[in-house]
Amino acid sequence: MPSALEAHIVPARRLSGRLRVPGDKSISHRYALLSALAEGTSRITNYSPGADCAATLECLRALGVTILRESDPVTGRLSTIVVHGRGLGRLAAPSATLNAQNSGTTTRLLAGILAAHPFTTTITGDASLCRRPMKRVIDPLTRMGARIEADNGCAPLTITGGGLHPIEYTTPVPSAQIKSAVLLAGLHLDGRTTVHEPAPTRDHTELAVVAFGGHVECAGTTIHVHGGRPLRAVDAQVPGDVSSATFWAVAAAALPGSDVTIEDLGLNPSRTALFDVLARAGAQVDRIIDVSTQGEPRGSVRIRHAGLRPLVLTPADIPALIDELPALAALAASGGELHVTGAGELRVKESDRITALATGLRALGADVDEFPDGFHIRGDRRLTGGHADAAHDHRLAMAFAIAGLSASGSTTVSGADVVDVSYPGFFDILATLTRAD
Ligand code: S3P
Repeated sequence: MPSALEAHIVPARRLSGRLRVPGDKSISHRYALLSALAEGTSRITNYSPGADCAATLECLRALGVTILRESDPVTGRLSTIVVHGRGLGRLAAPSATLNAQNSGTTTRLLAGILAAHPFTTTITGDASLCRRPMKRVIDPLTRMGARIEADNGCAPLTITGGGLHPIEYTTPVPSAQIKSAVLLAGLHLDGRTTVHEPAPTRDHTELAVVAFGGHVECAGTTIHVHGGRPLRAVDAQVPGDVSSATFWAVAAAALPGSDVTIEDLGLNPSRTALFDVLARAGAQVDRIIDVSTQGEPRGSVRIRHAGLRPLVLTPADIPALIDELPALAALAASGGELHVTGAGELRVKESDRITALATGLRALGADVDEFPDGFHIRGDRRLTGGHADAAHDHRLAMAFAIAGLSASGSTTVSGADVVDVSYPGFFDILATLTRAD
């Protein structure tokens, strides 16, 4: 077990086992937000246990939404939420500043909803969140009629909403969060709100709005929402988070003899590019879709090591893989090779993920070149292990831990408790999957 702040990783020979991962973070946020806007009581099972999704629940409570947590009868974990919806446009004015903590998704999606409410709200977060660009949601929401004050385009955002009108908007960068902010604002308005995307991004908002009885039409990278109609409560299940599963998939691809199966995993095609890329890199990947809930396909994936080939990711590959790049960087450092361009968005995530990745992986002995919009990692020399700092970024903490598995010596990841943002218990599962050796 790691201490609160430092995780110690010992080299592993291989990874094997079957497991489930926590509920999907992106989908959990959306189901919580839409439940709050629906008529009636929604029950969401397998809600993400991460701190980001807890921040969304706290913000909703501050907006007058009653939310209860129930434990799962099988695991005993508090993984079900019961949300008493207030109805579209009927959130209550909060009495204090909302705190989205580390969660960009909470901030941007909630900004869209608050823009449609006729009161003033301030939303802020931790130091990392307050460095992240918010102009990308301020611009379209202002065009719709909201008044938003921000310091230098960053949180805290003070949003005075209401009186909006539908717009047609082209997002400046491929971003599901910008798209969702506009669609969620549009959901409150009579008429058609349209978003054009420069490249497809995850479509969980579109699917979730339909599941809650809203009207969305998609034609390629154009999405229309027809708003002003009540949403109805649902009983929804959140599938396992493919971005969390990525770390096990990558570790299995890296370590000879590995064989890992992840069950009950979200397999929405807008999120599964990782598995195609792992197959391109030489891993044996078998996917089965079992079922679909609320329009979200789910099933299992088995990953076996079968050698590693160099990978090149071009700008067109990036939007579908943006959250998976830290793990793929760890794979490259563990005996692969990876050249990434067109990934400047990594610099405005929970950390500057290009510089912080390069710094952490170099500290473990990797050969990394950094570019303004990407990096090149050559894994032809074995990692030594060492000390890497998670840079307050959950995905980096997990990526450095996975890289440490194929090093010759041990690795310490400092600030490792940041994994709680999306994957509490990550280090316990790591211990289980590597225990056989
Ligand atoms: C997310 C969208 C992506 C992703 C983030 C979650 C979402 O961000 O990186 O982790 O849930 O919509 P961007 O929209 O900024 O690309």
